[in-house]
Amino acid sequence: MSDTSRAACVIGWPAGHSRSPLIHNYWIKQHGIEGEYRREAVPPEAFEDFVRNLASKGYVGANVTLPHKEAALALSEPDDRAEAVGAANTLWFDGKTLHATNTDVEGFVENLNASCRSWDRGLDSALVLGAGGAARAVVYALVQRGVERIHVANRTLARAEEFRERFGKGINPVRWEEASGLLGVADLLVNTTSLGMTGQGDIELPLDHLQPSAVVADIVYTPLETKLLAAARERGLRTADGLGMLLHQAVHGFELWFGVRPEVTPELRALVEADLRKDVRK
Ligand code: ATR
Repeated sequence: MSDTSRAACVIGWPAGHSRSPLIHNYWIKQHGIEGEYRREAVPPEAFEDFVRNLASKGYVGANVTLPHKEAALALSEPDDRAEAVGAANTLWFDGKTLHATNTDVEGFVENLNASCRSWDRGLDSALVLGAGGAARAVVYALVQRGVERIHVANRTLARAEEFRERFGKGINPVRWEEASGLLGVADLLVNTTSLGMTGQGDIELPLDHLQPSAVVADIVYTPLETKLLAAARERGLRTADGLGMLLHQAVHGFELWFGVRPEVTPELRALVEADLRKDVRK
């Protein structure tokens, strides 16, 4: 690579399933940037060493995916959102300082902005399914938007209760079985669990209890249309899907590394959809 060339990567274990190389290399080509985005499979025991040597390996920054999102915080200067979420997915250098942020937060919001106009108008109450790392990014985004009541339903209640400590009194931690009873008051329903993913079982909720104005979002994107989203669409509800969130979360990292704010276009979406379909056929 030449002196002016820039490289970024996704660090994961495994890293093989990440669609980030497809997305970022599409934008690199589209914008005529001299650069490259690579995949780096790094096991947990080698992660710290890899990150400490990121610059000497020629990288201007990186995405961090499972299982490294929490470890990345301790090795960098996290911004407010990474700190609040307790996980980082994007690293970049300012001089010699390695900074970290969590772009799942804006990925979630920007996808809703793009998919469901005025989704947050009059939004008082949300029901979030799940209490893992993805749920923390979603709940943080909703708290920042001023959503007053956020019900967090989780199979393991203690994890939902931690959300109240982390994000304050607006959080109502509830048992998984209580979720269906809250559908009538939720303006927004978000699935952050792995349920709905191919081979993982589905979410069984009586969606007819939702108000007709409610919005349903899912972070799962394999399959592209989960049963939850299909059922919501069947009822005429507005929806935002997991692939949209994945594409939108990539925007800010690209801008930080390559200096251009890229766009999520139908062409890019079609490219990633085609790649995901290849996996289904395997
Ligand atoms: P991530 O960082 O992707 O959010 P995670 O921290 O492992 O991943 O969280 C996965 C979420 O999916 C959790 O809320 C998990 O519930 P538990 O906290 O009880 O484990 C939820 N989840 C996974 N499988 C589930 C299932 N079969 N039924 C209900 N919830 C499930």
